[in-house]
Amino acid sequence: MDQLTGKNILVTGVTGWVAGPVAAALAANGNTVYGAARLKDAAQREPLEAAGIRPISIDLAKQRLDEVPGDIDIVLHFAVAKTQDFDIAFAANAEGSAALLEKCSGAEAFLHCSSTAVYEPDDHNPRRESDPLGDSHRPMPGMATYSISKIAGEVMVKAAAKRFDVPTVIARLSVPYGDLYGWMTFHLMMMEHNMPVTVHTNQPTNYAPLHSDDLIRSIPYVLSLASVPATIVNWGGDEVAGIEDWCDELGRLTGLTPTYEPTDQTIAAIIPNMEKLQSTGFHSEITWREGMRRQVTATRPDLLKQ
Ligand SMILES: NC(=O)c1ccc[n+]([C@@H]2O[C@H](COP(=O)([O-])OP(=O)(O)OC[C@H]3O[C@@H](n4cnc5c(N)ncnc54)[C@H](OP(=O)(O)O)[C@@H]3O)[C@@H](O)[C@H]2O)c1
Repeated sequence: MDQLTGKNILVTGVTGWVAGPVAAALAANGNTVYGAARLKDAAQREPLEAAGIRPISIDLAKQRLDEVPGDIDIVLHFAVAKTQDFDIAFAANAEGSAALLEKCSGAEAFLHCSSTAVYEPDDHNPRRESDPLGDSHRPMPGMATYSISKIAGEVMVKAAAKRFDVPTVIARLSVPYGDLYGWMTFHLMMMEHNMPVTVHTNQPTNYAPLHSDDLIRSIPYVLSLASVPATIVNWGGDEVAGIEDWCDELGRLTGLTPTYEPTDQTIAAIIPNMEKLQSTGFHSEITWREGMRRQVTATRPDLLKQ
């Protein structure tokens, strides 16, 4: 993070899980950080301002970008529309992403946050950046547009990066989590209420979870890959772990007993091959077990076994 200081940085999706802590960390590191989301509720601005972030309102689906300053050095584009409507998903996640890149065409680097959701699952074989794409999230209720619109977003960003000559990296994020958020946050709630946790029939339901502190530390490494034409890189932790692993660990930490409901109507295991990111020198430091303990300690200390 030493190199990432004194910059004008635009972080989109700032009210979301992943981008909020990133924006706060960059603001604390001596950068001028503009945090963008639609910000329909004025109350959303207060916690951002308290973290030293300058809130701005954008709407990617409408290509409303007039509040974006003209002197942005680095764009970290995390915003995503999670919607069942393909028109809105394509407008925000694909066309809107390209419009944002055009608006920031003077930037020295553009990081487009994609997802390992773009891969066609292939059993438990690690997926390289060049491996086939597919509609992995379609079976998951509520996620019909996700994989396809994230693929469309990559294509639009790639084309715009070439057209506007902006060094760009498209980073395919695996399972992000932090002390205060993540897929496992829901799993713990389900365990507390004796609800079975959905896993894929092709168990174990494995990914490469990345703790927020490691994700923040990885940003200069990911940005070092920005190029024209755009580079694609997998973005995850060094360890492979699955829903079954972290729920069992949450069980050990709390005394709750997870039960599993295998189904093919959910997301299959997608394990990213991490060699390309690791070739930059980045390795995650927070083990997933430590991450689970940190999350329960931060969110539900009452559940921790003494
Ligand atoms: N969460 C995961 O497990 C996961 C896994 C892999 C990759 N990713 C990727 O990581 C990134 C962040 O995901 P997340 O889970 O943190 O997302 P999130 O919590 O759902 O937040 C989405 C953000 O996008 C903003 N947004 C939505 N529609 C918008 C629009 N039309 N114009 C401008 N902003 C809009 C939201 O703010 P408003 O609604 O206030 O506008 C919010 O700040 C995404 O690119 C996602 O694809 C996430």
